[in-house]
Amino acid sequence: MSFIESTLYQTMGHSPLQVLTHPLLTEKSITVSVKRDDLLHPDISGNKWRKLKYNLLYAEANNKNHLISFGGAFSNHIHALAAACNHFKFQATGIIRGEAHYASNPTLAQVQKWGMELQFIDRKTYRLKEQYEYLTTLQAQYPTAYIIPEGGSNKLAIPGVEEVVEELTQQYKLINKQTDKQQSIDHIFTATGSAGTLAGLISGALKYSPNTIVNGIAVLKDAHYLTQTVKDFVEQERKINWHLHTNFHEGGYGKISPTLADFCRQFTSDTDIPIEPIYSGKMFYALWQLIEQDYFPVGTNIVALHTGGLQGLAGLKAQKRFTPSV
Ligand SMILES: Cc1ncc(COP(=O)(O)O)c(C=O)c1O
Repeated sequence: MSFIESTLYQTMGHSPLQVLTHPLLTEKSITVSVKRDDLLHPDISGNKWRKLKYNLLYAEANNKNHLISFGGAFSNHIHALAAACNHFKFQATGIIRGEAHYASNPTLAQVQKWGMELQFIDRKTYRLKEQYEYLTTLQAQYPTAYIIPEGGSNKLAIPGVEEVVEELTQQYKLINKQTDKQQSIDHIFTATGSAGTLAGLISGALKYSPNTIVNGIAVLKDAHYLTQTVKDFVEQERKINWHLHTNFHEGGYGKISPTLADFCRQFTSDTDIPIEPIYSGKMFYALWQLIEQDYFPVGTNIVALHTGGLQGLAGLKAQKRFTPSV
């Protein structure tokens, strides 16, 4: 069965929009709705599906039966890619930053069960992963393979993420009809790592919701360089209002401060929405701080994209770095 004909392909793509009730939002008269992309699929969830969709279609259309990508030892992208390859019968190779002992961690144990072959490379070699010579050698090693960059962020990731905004505008239209109001999406928020998701949302807003301000919360330190990455992905980015917030990284990528950990547990207990502290937790923590600081005018409508990544919780628990409350 081809990818497009599969039931999974045909049913994926419409995640619910959940309006939050929370004392802070009532106090500040702000509406926050969560686009629950974490619910898209148990294994190929969140922005991973959005970014992979057109890459998988491209691979199938071009008879590439083997997908290769890069990631850290707990990578959500590697996890989702392995699940997708297993489901759609592509051969899969994950090039993993770090030592082979990581092979038994919860993320990598699972991807191997799905049939992904792993190659571990040292951190110095890993840094070459976007360089022409390194990629040419890799392609020569696997001539029938299609190589997807780390995080799945490439030009083909953009149309998939744009669809989030298309869905949101339809969901808002329906809400307005049901409530007899004329509300629009003032802000969209997402966690930002390699910036493909932010770029896709900006591109989607340009097409479907040009008055929306798109915000990325950088989860890594010194992330200003990602502004250029976004500009490279989105040709007309100047016509829309977007902002990369670079001061909510909590010490850097993967760093979990005690306040962030507490926030994540409290957020889940208040809203029943599972989050993790590396991406979605950092994004919600930043959003909550901005609301507390009266960054938004009264009456603002905000949509936060839940980008999934919940598989990472098992690894964090195993390393005793974070325990969710539920
Ligand atoms: C769960 C989760 N959320 C957000 C992001 C950030 O997305 P992007 O790399 O497109 O900026 C990632 C990384 O891809 C992720 O795994």
